[in-house]
Amino acid sequence: MAQETRQQRFDTLSLHAGAGPDPVTGALLTPIYQTTTYVQEAVGRHKGYTYSRAGNPTVAALERRLAALEGAEFATCYATGLAATTALCLALLRAGERVVASQAVYGGTVRLLREVLAPFGVRAEFVDTSDTNALAEALRREPARLVFVETPANPTLQLTDIKEAARLAHAAGALLVVDNTLLTPALQRPLELGADVVLHSTTKFIEGHNATVGGALVTGDAALNERFDYIRKSTGTIQAPFDAWLTLQGVKTLGVRMAHHSENALRVARFLAEHPQVARLSYPGLESFPQFGLARRQQASGGALIAFEVEGGTEAGVRLMNSVRLCSLAENLGAAETLITHPASMTHGSVPTEQREAAGITEGLVRLSVGLEDPEDIIADLEQALRASGESEKVLSATNREG
Ligand SMILES: Cc1ncc(COP(=O)(O)O)c(C=O)c1O
Repeated sequence: MAQETRQQRFDTLSLHAGAGPDPVTGALLTPIYQTTTYVQEAVGRHKGYTYSRAGNPTVAALERRLAALEGAEFATCYATGLAATTALCLALLRAGERVVASQAVYGGTVRLLREVLAPFGVRAEFVDTSDTNALAEALRREPARLVFVETPANPTLQLTDIKEAARLAHAAGALLVVDNTLLTPALQRPLELGADVVLHSTTKFIEGHNATVGGALVTGDAALNERFDYIRKSTGTIQAPFDAWLTLQGVKTLGVRMAHHSENALRVARFLAEHPQVARLSYPGLESFPQFGLARRQQASGGALIAFEVEGGTEAGVRLMNSVRLCSLAENLGAAETLITHPASMTHGSVPTEQREAAGITEGLVRLSVGLEDPEDIIADLEQALRASGESEKVLSATNREG
């Protein structure tokens, strides 16, 4: 165990919390404990590990580090972010119980609640949690066991006021869970604002290099953590040791990367906001963002994601995405490389059309996860892609006129 103290700051904790040099060999990096089982000295006498579905030293090192970064006591790591969401629901919801979730959330979360858990009697209601009154009304109508918010929401970037959501959830006897994937504890600390559990897809910024999939549940509540651990062991969804080890390396630079992601995203957002072909843009770090005041209160900076629409609607947006050269058209966010995504057909394709429309996930919406390249190169790529998209638009409208 590293010599961390409560006084240590984020960047120091990112490097040292929960894992020091290996006590046996002195290896600076935590070893990858690639083992299924652990030899016991006598029946029932062991060093805390029995079987790697229940716990693994490399995974445990990552758990201690993530807990320290969120300012919590406990974390459990899972094979994917959705495995963490599944464990959360299995741990906390019974048939007949209700979860009130943000209308704009990751598409896989919607599919899990609507398609997979509904047949087991779990009832999900999706409301616009960016509107505190709508959340209050949903909780007044009927009791709920869980309030699940994603802020900023993927992909619209609408914010939910975490302090208010915690106050309303607790007054209604519900627990508040915040999916903190888009900002990470480097930029937002939901537990300090009253949330009971933080959920992460560590696939994104926490590991940060497009190398793994993983998830985590972080909490200060020992009883909740015990339940998460029990469900993970019982359903077999623990993270693999090698993925945990890669994530331990990625998380070392989390603070530095998130600051740089945000600086780059602000530069790119300013460029896009002034571009004549950009019709609508959402970035929490811009003064023009409707919830800029809340963003300033709740997050350290704007984060890496930008959502926008281009003039010419869906066709023009698709042409833009097909024309990028440096940015990669791919289904992920939160990596060192800039990624561009079409949420309506990719990440949110499984969300019913009415919910997509209500959440503002239009057919023409483009999601950009700004990476760590030089921002001038990202801007130059978007500029040429916008030009290519605009030129095809002119050709198309001329052809339509002629036809
Ligand atoms: C906000 C958010 N939460 C959870 C998930 C699910 O994570 P994973 O893909 O690691 O299962 C995603 C995936 O895109 C996401 O964007």
